[in-house]
Amino acid sequence: MTETTPQPRKRLYIRTFGCQMNVYDSDRMADVLAPLGYGPAPSPEEADMVILNTCHIRERASEKVFSDLGRLRVLKDAKAERGEQMVLAVAGCVAQAEGKEIVSRAPWVDIVLGPQTYHRLPEMVARAARAAGAQIDTDFPVEQKFDLLPEVRASQGPIAFLTIQEGCDKFCSFCVVPYTRGAEFSRPVAAILAEARRLVASGAREIALLGQNVNAWHGEAPDGATWDLTRLLYALAEIDGLPRIRYTTSHPRDMDAGLIRAHGAIPQLMPFLHLPVQSGSDRVLAAMNRGHKADLFLRICDELRAARPDIALSSDFIVGHPGETAADHAATMALVERVGFALAYSFTYSQRPGTPAAGQPLQVAQAEKDARLQELQALLRQQQDAFNEACVGQDCAVLFTGPGRHPGQVMGRTPWLQPVHAMGPLSLVGQTAPVRIAERYPNSLSAILLDQKELACA
Ligand code: SAH
Ligand code: SF4
Ligand code: F3S
Repeated sequence: MTETTPQPRKRLYIRTFGCQMNVYDSDRMADVLAPLGYGPAPSPEEADMVILNTCHIRERASEKVFSDLGRLRVLKDAKAERGEQMVLAVAGCVAQAEGKEIVSRAPWVDIVLGPQTYHRLPEMVARAARAAGAQIDTDFPVEQKFDLLPEVRASQGPIAFLTIQEGCDKFCSFCVVPYTRGAEFSRPVAAILAEARRLVASGAREIALLGQNVNAWHGEAPDGATWDLTRLLYALAEIDGLPRIRYTTSHPRDMDAGLIRAHGAIPQLMPFLHLPVQSGSDRVLAAMNRGHKADLFLRICDELRAARPDIALSSDFIVGHPGETAADHAATMALVERVGFALAYSFTYSQRPGTPAAGQPLQVAQAEKDARLQELQALLRQQQDAFNEACVGQDCAVLFTGPGRHPGQVMGRTPWLQPVHAMGPLSLVGQTAPVRIAERYPNSLSAILLDQKELACA
């Protein structure tokens, strides 16, 4: 906490849904409210202000917001009866897409603000506190939020996120992001490097660069030149005290040769890449407006493995996009068989209002979507288990991030992003230490700490 930050007088609770960019944005909202005297609350019950930072990507995600708002109304009313106030704000992608509907369905909400207007939060809070009625701000202002938000204040711990790019110009048929986050915007080089150095100074040992299309990032450098992500990664690799770098989420179309080579050339770039493919069928990829064929994806995977043999791959899949046939689904299964993923997220297609696919005929029946998802997830689970099983008995470096669930345990991450726990001192938190993987569980590993000199492979 800096000298200019007042002691917290009010308590703020933020509930974050959706992607890592929302996690980053939630921290930024906390930063912007800190000078107003807001410190963290342990639960909504104890908060003077609650922010729901929402996700619109699938129907189920957006509906969660309305059920949460119902529960928060009860808390807000109870507080009002005690003569206390609770400011209730809805931020994020549902706010952007359904701002007016939120106010009409949940008139007890005080503030609705889209992802590009977080810097205006203090002004909106002041107005809401004067009970001036619901405040809605879902502009895409010409000024950039990154220029107007305060510098990152709180330490995020050993693993930190850094948003370098926001928005999307790709307009995949199924996706709301271009409408909720707006046009693609890349932060300039100097701002990114300065934020990265500050994160390292406050304890970050791994930085994950974030963007809806992070590998489409192209930022202005101080000399006026335009850098691409590859160049930025090389610059980040020069920062002392930063042993780990990642970037997410990438689009196959922007995975160029230089970036693939960087995976073999930059040791700090962790051997794990999340590269959503969505489908293995060229027909469906075209209908999705993904702009590439399955073959390109397979070639990228091969080239990445040639550049960095220990790289693990992760992806996203949608089953049941309008027009998807059993043969298309079989093509997705074949692609998964061929690549072998260490991790994957898969979803049934969800019709999103205002997106091109939502209005298409040939919607796939829910039962069919569910059956295809089950089949795909069984294969992906098998692959994830096989990947984790292959790690057992291997040595690797783990970045320790905090205490484990049991006394004497510490938690961390492998280079391949697997959560791992080991018996060891808390003094390891914030450090990378060698371990031998002992056992695998469905979504994590256990390990034994090794002496530095025993390490067989890093
Ligand atoms: N920018 C990333 C993904 C952002 S959204 C990309 O280009 O791939 C995260 C994931 O949610 C997507 O990869 C997709 O698999 C899933 N998703 C997006 N819209 C969806 C929809 N309408 N129905 C089901 N899943 C969806
Ligand atoms: Fe959505 Fe496609 Fe943009 Fe990814 S690339 S955010 S899936 S529109
Ligand atoms: Fe969701 Fe918006 Fe992220 S829709 S996935 S919170 S960009």
